[in-house]
Amino acid sequence: MSRELVVVDDPAAEAAARIATVVRAGGEIALAGGSTPRRSYELLAEMDLDWTGVGLWLGDDRCVGPEHEFSNYRMVEQELVARLPADRRPRAWHRIRGELGPEPAAAVLEDELRDAFGDGDAPPRFDLVLLGIGPDAHTASLFPGEPALGERERWAVGVHTPGMAPLVPRVTLTLPVLDAAAEVVFLIAGADKAEAVARAFGDAPGPDAPASLVRPADGALTVLLDRPAAARLGADG
Ligand code: 6PG
Repeated sequence: MSRELVVVDDPAAEAAARIATVVRAGGEIALAGGSTPRRSYELLAEMDLDWTGVGLWLGDDRCVGPEHEFSNYRMVEQELVARLPADRRPRAWHRIRGELGPEPAAAVLEDELRDAFGDGDAPPRFDLVLLGIGPDAHTASLFPGEPALGERERWAVGVHTPGMAPLVPRVTLTLPVLDAAAEVVFLIAGADKAEAVARAFGDAPGPDAPASLVRPADGALTVLLDRPAAARLGADG
C-alpha cells in the first residue's frame, strides 16, 4: 500500500480531477455520500467527460427511498448523473435498495457486485473508491465499535445503529472491499474533521477510528485535506 496525505486549498477539486482520470480510462467507481463531495460532483458534471465506460456505485447509503433527502443516491444523481448528457452517463448506475431494509438491501448489493465483478471469493476490486470521514472518524457507514468493522467475508452489510446523523439504518461496503481497491481517495474538509483526521491518519489508528482501518493492500491510498482538516496532524502526517 502506498499512502499519501495531500493538503490543498480545494480538496474537492483535486478529488474531481482524480475521479476524472479514472472516468477517462473507464472502470468501476464507488462514490461517497454526505455533503463534502457535492462540490466534486458538481465540478465533474461540468467537465467534458464520457462516463459510458464507468460502472458507478456508492460506498454506502441510508436505508431510505431514492427520493428521500437522506439518500446518497439522490444527491449523486442530482449533482452529477442527471447533469450529464443522456448519451454520456455511466453504463451502469447501481442504487443501493435501502428501502428494503439494511440486510435485504445489503444482500441485493452483494448480488449486484458478484454479477459485475465475478462470484469468486476475492472481493471486488474497484478502480477508485471515494470516501469521506465523520467527526467520529467513521467512513462509509463503518462506525466505531460497530460489528460491521469486523466483517471479513461479506462484501456489503446492514448497519442498524449508525453512530451519527442521519440516525437511519445504513448499508455499507465492508473493509475487505475497500481494501481491495486499486485506489482509495479520502476527501476531507473543515476544522470539524481535524480531531478525527489526527486519530485516523496520525497517532491513534484502530477500531475507534474506522477510517484508519482502510488500507488497500495492493492499491494507492490518498488523503486529500484542506488546511483546517489537517491542522492537528503531526509533522509526519
Ligand atoms: C454518508 C457518508 C459518510 C460521509 C461522512 C462525511 O453516508 O454520510 O458515506 O461516510 O462520507 O459522514 O460526511 P460529510 O462530508 O457530510 O462531512
